[in-house]
Amino acid sequence: MILSKCESKLDVDLGERSYPIFIGEGIYADASYYRKYISGSQVMVVTNETIAPLYLDKTTEALSDYELKTCILPDGEEFKTLEVLNRIYTALLKGHFTRRSTLVALGGGVIGDMTGFAAATYQRGVEFIQVPTTLLSQVDSSVGGKTGVNHLLGKNMIGAFYQPQLVLADTSTLNTLDDRQLSSGLAEVIKYGLIVDAEFFSWLEENMDALLARDPGSLAYAIERSCRCKTDVVEADEKEAGQRALLNLGHTFGHAIETGMGYGEWLHGEAVATGMCMAADLSRREGWISEQSCDRIYRLIERAKLPIEPPVELSVDRFLELMAVDKKVLDGRLRLVLLKEIGSSLVTDDFKMHNLNETLSQYGS
Ligand code: NAD
Ligand code: GLY
Repeated sequence: MILSKCESKLDVDLGERSYPIFIGEGIYADASYYRKYISGSQVMVVTNETIAPLYLDKTTEALSDYELKTCILPDGEEFKTLEVLNRIYTALLKGHFTRRSTLVALGGGVIGDMTGFAAATYQRGVEFIQVPTTLLSQVDSSVGGKTGVNHLLGKNMIGAFYQPQLVLADTSTLNTLDDRQLSSGLAEVIKYGLIVDAEFFSWLEENMDALLARDPGSLAYAIERSCRCKTDVVEADEKEAGQRALLNLGHTFGHAIETGMGYGEWLHGEAVATGMCMAADLSRREGWISEQSCDRIYRLIERAKLPIEPPVELSVDRFLELMAVDKKVLDGRLRLVLLKEIGSSLVTDDFKMHNLNETLSQYGS
C-alpha cells in the first residue's frame, strides 16, 4: 500500500470552473484523490517517455477502476507542436473515447499544456486533470488554465484557456528531477515574489539554500505560496484582460530567447530568469526600481543557479523582431511587465525605446 500525505489544499475559485489544488507526498498514486473529479468511465493518461518509467505504473494503478488507456509522447519542448498533439487525438479516436472522457496530464509543463489543449479541443471539450511532476509545473503551468502548443514563429501561439478539474502536485516526484530543472522551476517561484509578494521574495533570500538542497518542508511551502499568488491573480482576471499579464514578468524577453535559440536549448525557467533581470534593468533605467533592488534580484537569481544574461548569439534587432510577436503586443505597441519595486509590478507600453535598446545592447550582442 502507498502512503499518501496531503500537506495542503487550495481552491481556485472561478465559479462553475472552480477546482482544488492538492499539494502533498504520494497523492498522485492514491485513487481517492481522483474519484470525485472523474465523471465518465474512460480515462487517458498522457505522459512522455521519460516520465512513464518513473510514474506511469502507480498512476494507472490508482486509476484502475476506469477504462484506461495511455498515450506516451516524445520528451522535449521541441515536441510541443501541433504535429505531436495530433498523436493524442489519434489515440483518443482509436480508443473510441467519447465526450465523457477524462485526460490526465502526467508530467511537466509541456505535457500539461499539450494535454490541456487536447482536452479543450477533442470533441469540443472533455475534462482533464493536471498531475504536474516538475517544480515549474507545480508552481505555475498546471494552475490557471493556459493550454497550448508552440509555433515555429512564436512560443505558445496556438492555445486556449481551459481549466482542469483538479491539480495534484505531488512533491515526492521532485526527487527524480535533475538540478537544472529544479532551478528552472525556481525562476517562476522568484517571479511571484517580484510581481506581488515582497515578503515571499525575502523568504526566498533566506531559504534559497534549503530549496536547492530539496528540503521537503521548504519546497512544500514555496509551492503553496506560489500557487496562492497565482490563484489570486487568476481569480481576478482569468482570461488575461489586464492584471494576469503580470504573471508574464520576464516572459517577453524569455520567449524571444527560447524561440530565437531553438526550442529546448534554453529551459523555460532559464529564459524567464534572464528575462526578469532584463525587465529589472529596464525598470531601473526608467527610474523606478533602485540599483540596490536590482542587485538583490540578480543575486537571488544567480543563487538559484540561473542565468542572468541573455545568449550573445541574439542581436538587438533579432530580439526586437522576436519580441514583436508577443501576445501582449496591442495595436502595434509592445507592452512589457516592469517593476516599480520588489513585489510591485505593472504592465505598460510607457517606457522609452532608447532605454529598451540600452537594456538589450549592454550584453555585447
Ligand atoms: P518539461 O515539461 O519539458 O519538463 C522538464 C523535463 O523534466 C522533461 O525532460 C521532463 O520529461 C522531465 N521530467 C518531468 N517530471 C520529471 C520528474 N518528476 N523526474 C524526472 N524528470 C522529469 O518542462 P517544464 O519546465 O515542466 O515546463 C515548461 C513548459 O511549461 C514550457 O513549454 C512553458 O511554455 C510551459 N509553461 C506553461 C505555463 C502555463 O501557464 N500554462 C506557465 C509556465 C510555463
Ligand atoms: N504563466 C502565465 C500565466 O499563467 O498567465
